Amino acid sequence: MSDQLIEKIYNITKKYKDPVSNVALDKDNKSFSVITKNGNISISLSIESQNIDKYESLLTNMKKSINEIKEALSVNIALTSEKNSKNEIGSEKRFSVNAKNIIAVASGKGGVGKSTFAVNYAVALKTIGFKVGILDADIYGPSVPRMMGISGRPQANENKKLIPLESYGIKCMSIGFLIGVDTPTIWRGPMVMKALEQMFNGVEWGELDYLIIDLPPGTGDAQLTLAQSSKLSGSIIISTPQDVALIDARKGINMFNRVQVPVLGIVENMSYFICSNCDERHEIFSNGGARKEAEKFQVSFLGELPIDKNLRIHSDEGRPICISEPESYLAKIYIDIAKKVHKDLI
Ligand SMILES: Nc1ncnc2c1ncn2[C@@H]1O[C@H](COP(=O)(O)OP(=O)(O)OP(=O)(O)O)[C@@H](O)[C@H]1O
Ligand SMILES: [Mg+2]
Repeated sequence: MSDQLIEKIYNITKKYKDPVSNVALDKDNKSFSVITKNGNISISLSIESQNIDKYESLLTNMKKSINEIKEALSVNIALTSEKNSKNEIGSEKRFSVNAKNIIAVASGKGGVGKSTFAVNYAVALKTIGFKVGILDADIYGPSVPRMMGISGRPQANENKKLIPLESYGIKCMSIGFLIGVDTPTIWRGPMVMKALEQMFNGVEWGELDYLIIDLPPGTGDAQLTLAQSSKLSGSIIISTPQDVALIDARKGINMFNRVQVPVLGIVENMSYFICSNCDERHEIFSNGGARKEAEKFQVSFLGELPIDKNLRIHSDEGRPICISEPESYLAKIYIDIAKKVHKDLI
């Protein structure tokens, strides 16, 4: 059955050619392989990473044709790139954590609500039943201690690894625990990288379903190093609806694309405001920009979060809305996003 299925798949793929080398995607092509298990089809094609954009239509068309085989339950086509790894900083995924999924929460622009999202998303995942950790990678402006309502100094265990502090059942690690949130960090690049590495390898994270990384704003060295040196399952981009934030969000998407980290989706934060007097929806910064951006980049649009006074108060007081008001419509938005991304990851 499986051999017949593989035969049918190759009969389809041999009609397609690698858009760069112009070689047919058939059994003789060494860069191309097909495996199947119980009707689930995994295809991999080795490419040179700088050419990734040229494969877009091939992937869409080939996936569509293979999906027409009646025995095909799922089709997954992965582009892999071995040649590129030589050029990468710290190519051997030197930051390692035993987590099934590692997700970076990013934005191009500062202050758009990344940390608020990262914390509530982590709590939403915990509510669903996952084992979750949150790593505050914002060395210069750590927010996780405040937003998770936690302080203290992590202790080292017998393996000389730091034991993360725990809040609402979530393991937390932040530079803020080690140097205090109000002490300015005046470290230069290599020290920042070392500190980030310590937060992965030097911490006893244990086994996790999800490690959520709250990234600093922008697309600088810290973000790039993390994207390249840790085994990220993907990133979630937070943007507000204004053009200035969207332009920066685009830079974030491009950065992750360049280092082949999948963008799992975009969230529009501060999307609208519901007035408590008139119950009307006001689109203060206009609305829908992030959704359009997601369409343009062909990434998922994960949802809209309103500007909400309670969300701000609870976050800033260290009681995420998914904890303080678990039945609220806001908590439901976070849980829906968590479920959607989880579904896309499996
Ligand atoms: N949807 C929202 N409604 C109301 N307030 C919000 C919302 N999202 C975030 N905030 C508030 O906006 C401020 C900035 O949010 P946050 O710290 O999460 O942004 P950030 O993108 O992580 O910032 P930075 O780039 O500095 O790390 C916080 O006071 C937070 O409580
Ligand atoms: Mg932040």
